Amino acid sequence: MTKNLNIDVDERGYYGRFGGAYIPEMLHPNIEELRLKYRKMTADPEFKKEFDALLKDYVGRPSPLYFAKRLSAHYGTNIYLKREDLNHTGAHKINNTIGQILVAQRLGKKRIIAETGAGQHGVATATVCALVGVECIVYMGEVDIARQAPNVARMRMLGAEVRPALSGSRTLKDATNEAIRDWINNPEDTHYIIGSVVGPHPYPDMVARFQSVISEEMKWQLQEKIGRDYPDAIVACVGGGSNAAGAFYHYLNDDRVRLVAVEAAGLGVDSGESAATSVLGTEGIIHGARTLLMQTDDGQVIEPYSISAGLDYPGIGPLHAFLIDSKRAEAISVTDDDALAAALFTARTEGIIPALETAHAFSALDQMDYGPDDVIVVCLSGRGDKDLAAFTTYLNQLGE
Ligand SMILES: Cc1ncc(COP(=O)(O)O)c(C=O)c1O
Repeated sequence: MTKNLNIDVDERGYYGRFGGAYIPEMLHPNIEELRLKYRKMTADPEFKKEFDALLKDYVGRPSPLYFAKRLSAHYGTNIYLKREDLNHTGAHKINNTIGQILVAQRLGKKRIIAETGAGQHGVATATVCALVGVECIVYMGEVDIARQAPNVARMRMLGAEVRPALSGSRTLKDATNEAIRDWINNPEDTHYIIGSVVGPHPYPDMVARFQSVISEEMKWQLQEKIGRDYPDAIVACVGGGSNAAGAFYHYLNDDRVRLVAVEAAGLGVDSGESAATSVLGTEGIIHGARTLLMQTDDGQVIEPYSISAGLDYPGIGPLHAFLIDSKRAEAISVTDDDALAAALFTARTEGIIPALETAHAFSALDQMDYGPDDVIVVCLSGRGDKDLAAFTTYLNQLGE
């Protein structure tokens, strides 16, 4: 691990070499307005008051930090689960959308667009739009619309329009392309609520700050439960990286804490059907940021694959590219099959059905080393209700 690394974003949005804002001219005024205002706006006591009150009374925070007794016994260590699955709408994504809708209101924007993969960010965006009464359009890949049908129904119920992305692998990357295209065509009245720590600066930093409530709570919850405010390791799945960024945030500069980022290996890292960006990725630009992405030698994005719609993305946020490049974080890749097995095991060991994304983080416990006195926090980013179709197919294959 690199010692004394100071991990903070600079004024232009760089974490070391990664980040920045590589955007079309048409979006320059919007991004520049956000960049100039977001820190001041979110530091305003009125903003913080409104944000904190909504997180408490609407989202249901603080989310519990739960000691998973039977999982701990199985692995021979101490495993705590940070229960983002218990948030309103069922995942961590709502922490960010609450923050961004307050930003949009202060910018006077009346129309909201978003991209979604697993549908959790789409649902969280549709939810906050209903909460404040503004129009909401969510772009979603056609493949994801089919595999995350319950979330599509929820978005419609909440009054959002779900627009299919029909290009490429018809997944999260393609939905993001469509959302950016929409924003270019409607820069005046529209705010784009990006759902992860990706995109041009200031999005990665802004989203990480909104999600940092996860590790802010972990600190006092660990103090209460184990008498020290840090764990030995934090394990989180990474699509773009927002739940991981939130869970790592207050420990980024604390070398006592191992940071473990878990990616989707799909059918296997070397199978050609994977989304293991930190192993397969090289430096380049995707969706407005310099980061690691899966690309051919001539810079064409390689279509990613994972059974999990929220991890099926060919890049990672610039913070994570920096954490991995500097060896501050470890990357672990988990296949579809191992994630399914981990979801079933977690369900039957703790009575908690995790999202397919989160199941990758649980599976990583099989690949890690730890001692009997270690304390490991797994960020339980979301619940698995949306994935019951995939789980049913799996159970049928097992003959159960
Ligand atoms: C439950 C859950 N966990 C994790 C993710 C991955 O996103 P991120 O890496 O931004 O946390 C998603 C994305 O949709 C999700 O729904």
